[in-house]
Amino acid sequence: MCGIIGATGGEDVLDVLLDGLARLEYRGYDSAGVALELPRPANATSGPADGVPLWRARAASGTTSLDELRKVAHVAPKGALAGIGHTRWATHGRPSEANAHPHLDCTATVAVVHNGIVENCRELAEELIASGHELASETDTEVVAHLIEGELRRSSEPALDRTSQVGEEGRLAGAMRAVIGRLRGSFALAAIWAGEPGTIVAARRVSPLVIGAADSAVAGGSSQVLLASDIPAILGRARRFLLVEDDQVAELRPGSVAVTTVDGMPVDPPELRVDWDLDAALKGGFEDFMSKELHEQPRALADTLLGRVLPAGTLALDEVRISDDELREVDKVFVVACGSSYHAGLVAKYAIEHWARLPVEIDIASEFRYRDPVLDHRTLVVGVSQSGETLDTIQAVRAARQCGAKVLAVSNVVDSSMARQADGVLYTRAGPEVGVASTKTYLAQLAALDILALYLAQLRGILYPHEVRRLLDDLGEMPSLVEEVLGRSGDVLAVARSQRNTRDFFFLGRHVGYPVALEGALKAKELAYVRAEAYPAGELKHGPIALIEPGTVVVGVATRTRLWEKMMANIAEVRSRGATVVLVANDGDEEAGAMADSVLWVPAANPLLAPLVDVVPLQLFAYHLARLSGYDVDRPRNLAKTVTVE
Ligand code: AGP
Repeated sequence: MCGIIGATGGEDVLDVLLDGLARLEYRGYDSAGVALELPRPANATSGPADGVPLWRARAASGTTSLDELRKVAHVAPKGALAGIGHTRWATHGRPSEANAHPHLDCTATVAVVHNGIVENCRELAEELIASGHELASETDTEVVAHLIEGELRRSSEPALDRTSQVGEEGRLAGAMRAVIGRLRGSFALAAIWAGEPGTIVAARRVSPLVIGAADSAVAGGSSQVLLASDIPAILGRARRFLLVEDDQVAELRPGSVAVTTVDGMPVDPPELRVDWDLDAALKGGFEDFMSKELHEQPRALADTLLGRVLPAGTLALDEVRISDDELREVDKVFVVACGSSYHAGLVAKYAIEHWARLPVEIDIASEFRYRDPVLDHRTLVVGVSQSGETLDTIQAVRAARQCGAKVLAVSNVVDSSMARQADGVLYTRAGPEVGVASTKTYLAQLAALDILALYLAQLRGILYPHEVRRLLDDLGEMPSLVEEVLGRSGDVLAVARSQRNTRDFFFLGRHVGYPVALEGALKAKELAYVRAEAYPAGELKHGPIALIEPGTVVVGVATRTRLWEKMMANIAEVRSRGATVVLVANDGDEEAGAMADSVLWVPAANPLLAPLVDVVPLQLFAYHLARLSGYDVDRPRNLAKTVTVE
């Protein structure tokens, strides 16, 4: 998830860009950059006075990127006509200045910024290189800049180069329309071209894009017109906001906005009423970052799954520096992780063992290296860490490598410490997670680990390609099922209200429902500060059932897996001892409903994929319990987002 911004008109384009990037930093901060279009002498047919068509500055120093950019911006030429800016959360290509946006074409007269994932960037890049383009980065975005250059060449007579930059209006928009017709995936793009002074062209598909204008701008005044990934970046400068829909192209000029479909048909963009203050805007209108991130889960899942299937129908991981032959030799898998990432690993154990028929051991990372595990070159150790900076997990991965094991990292941060120590990386693409409690990154980990399990199954010939394809189709349904459950937050709030004074919870589950119970219990502990123990339901009779008495609250994960009957027998055991029962159950499951005091309903899903859906009501339950107690859900007491100590 990155942030883009643009401005044309007015006297303070660069300031608008830098201020906007500061408000977009929560969307990513691996690098920051701006590109400005400068005025040129009245009689010139070439670029601006200094002969440089566009002025660009970039910085890639992590959280200080924007500070570094501001230092460079002091020497920027004055009086920019238009400009675009970007703050990056790396998904394609490491965090580096070379990969920082804006990206330029071969002539350095086209600049592009982008938020999203171009799924077919590899094949487009190969085509561009074959036709003589030189790419300077590892990003999908630079491909777009060169594609626009190609379309401008095709629409220009004589051929486009540095000297004949005089273009006529509409060519950049025409080029953008042609280019987005070739892109697969998600994008919010903004481009400037020295051949159309003062014009910014933007386009979107799935990724967010909003246009802002001063009151007079849309009515043809001469004031500034802006664009951004979201409203906070331009709130206070823009008075009116216009929404660009999927596969629409917007042309922004001082005082005017023109929007068309990808086929060039003019459309009248809907206006967005905004009465948020800045703090609310930074949270996308949600009351807190956790709520915003809960609702970003469908997108995080979809982005993590995007581009995983190659045209031949086989699966693709990210930076896997382990050969397929080496992976075929693997005879045992270890998963090492902490907290929610450990719970994701527990689900992965079921998936890898069932689909790939590989034995899986899973360890709490802080225990792993002290138990003298038996590892060798045929062992694959999977380190799961959204931050990629959890020291317990990094140390565990380091110990595994010292024993000769192959290491695969599953991380949400490109080039994180753990990623750098691994032989291969599978990235989740959930974007930065501000809330301390893992939600969207946890769900994205489940999806990434399912992809890994299917990749191993495919590689080992355990599953046929059509079986993998069917399971990937089931996985592709998950974002919409999660969306559906998020829409039931009000129902979950009612159940949370009924339990707002409960200080003790049992969470029960069987099979993949057990890690779901563990994650639900952890969320309740870390957010609502209640005691919450999770057990495999079959384990109750071996001791814990002694704790069940009238009024004990038991939360059971009772969706329809092949152990559903056994789960319901365990629920009958606790009910017979007076427990109050809350069940996560499938829509329409009246038998389960009859055994519960309250039900958190979820749609049915493939049993091994059900954890992606079944955990969502438990995330919401913990969230509402915490809010009902007035706790800060974004910054729970005693906790840090990343634990970089042992
Ligand atoms: C979960 O909500 C907590 N934030 C915590 O348990 C977290 O999952 C754990 O610290 C691991 O973090 P990581 O994924 O960044 O390694």
